[in-house]
Amino acid sequence: MSERVPVGVLVSGGGTNLQALIDAAAAPDYPAQIAVVLSNRRDAGGLDRARAAGLPAQWIPHREKSREDFDAELVAVLQSHGCQWVCLAGFMRLLTPVFLDAYAGRVLNIHPALLPAFPGIHGQRQAHDAGVQIAGATVHFVDTGMDTGPIIAQGAVPRLPDDTVDDLQARILGVEHQLFPRVLRWAVQGRIQVAEGRVQVDLPPGEQRWIWCG
Ligand code: GRF
Repeated sequence: MSERVPVGVLVSGGGTNLQALIDAAAAPDYPAQIAVVLSNRRDAGGLDRARAAGLPAQWIPHREKSREDFDAELVAVLQSHGCQWVCLAGFMRLLTPVFLDAYAGRVLNIHPALLPAFPGIHGQRQAHDAGVQIAGATVHFVDTGMDTGPIIAQGAVPRLPDDTVDDLQARILGVEHQLFPRVLRWAVQGRIQVAEGRVQVDLPPGEQRWIWCG
């Protein structure tokens, strides 16, 4: 197969979405490889997952420096590993133009709600408390806003009558793990275009921009 596209993954937490990307990239025909995993938190479980998979993993603290200096550090390390795309997999920092100009149109985020509903943290709790009947996750391009970039794909799940927030969160996480590797595959294959803020995807046969996990 042709050479695989190097991708960087940024994490702040446990890294189950990172794990889904690692597992997907283990398939010989997956078109991306994870070149490095970075975290602003030394104790992020995602760093442990990366190391367990034999991937370069690095803590880059964000305290006592400007957002721009932090972003410049991230970019320098990503570029040193040849990363062409970046996935935010539970990365809890807003990015500045220092980062987004360096990786313009090449930064993907996964958010645990059906955007534009429930941006920000606690999307699952907000959806639960609002009494939605269908919840889900969104993969979108990253801009300087909070979960505001163009939407690429969404995965939906039902909210069942007796669901706790934790139940709903777990069900959403399940669809996240399907969605993110799929969108990253499209991205590195050059299937995703953005025109006037809206996304178009040259879909592989049989695939959709949505997943329903009922
Ligand atoms: C996920 O719910 C993701 O959508 C959000 O942060 C959470 C990260 O979970 N952005 P994990 O670290 O991938 O398990």
